[in-house]
Amino acid sequence: MKKRNTPYVILACITIVFIFYALVDNYVIDPEAKDFLSQKTGLTRELKTHVWLNVMYVHVAFACIAMAAGLLNFSNRIFEKSRRLHRINGYIYFLSVLLVVLTSGYMAPYATGGKISSMGFNALNIIWLLITITALVQIKKKRIASHRNWMIRSYAFCFTNMLIHLTTFVFHHGFGFHYATSYAIGVYASIVLLLVIPNVIIRTSGQLK
Ligand code: HEM
Repeated sequence: MKKRNTPYVILACITIVFIFYALVDNYVIDPEAKDFLSQKTGLTRELKTHVWLNVMYVHVAFACIAMAAGLLNFSNRIFEKSRRLHRINGYIYFLSVLLVVLTSGYMAPYATGGKISSMGFNALNIIWLLITITALVQIKKKRIASHRNWMIRSYAFCFTNMLIHLTTFVFHHGFGFHYATSYAIGVYASIVLLLVIPNVIIRTSGQLK
């Protein structure tokens, strides 16, 4: 009987649920992001809502593609079946990360929580891009184990939005902080968690298979 790969199954469940949630929430339930945009106060530059929304739609679409492509590429079964599929899917992931970063660059100056949050998002953008490029460079040098570890580090950033919202929820509803303050805390807490968690996973399990 084939051994079930529990960490991969858990990752797949979390990812699929989150992709579904992101798509339904942003394209069906609240396509005008009314709840989210109502929390923006004291912006130093004028927010062109229709442009912001269109950028956000592109952002969410490619974020979901990156999450799905990354998930497929961590599957051993797909890797063993077709290296070509793994490679094509890998480039889809890379391109999607570039588009998420690009759209994030547009939205960052208007971030909820003001300048502090904007700086955090710019840092996230730079770190994610560098980590993803490192993963690509490693495989170009045929260092498979290192490529896999850097991809685990890169893929963690696909959960940025989820972590920011979880942290914001805890600080806003749990500790009574103002929403914008909780959001800014969420951005920085996510940076720390997204750098620490994948390294813990790499150390403890060796690899996600
Ligand atoms: C890959 C999974 C991601 C998903 C599903 C996602 C989704 C979203 C969504 C739905 C929004 C609209 C506001 C909200 O509901 O939070 C948003 C805003 C934003 N995202 Fe992402 N995102 C992802 C990753 C990232 C990453 C990795 C970055 C930075 C490198 C980023 C930067 C931003 C910025 C700057 C905003 C605007 C925040 C604001 O206006 O306060 N996102 N994202």
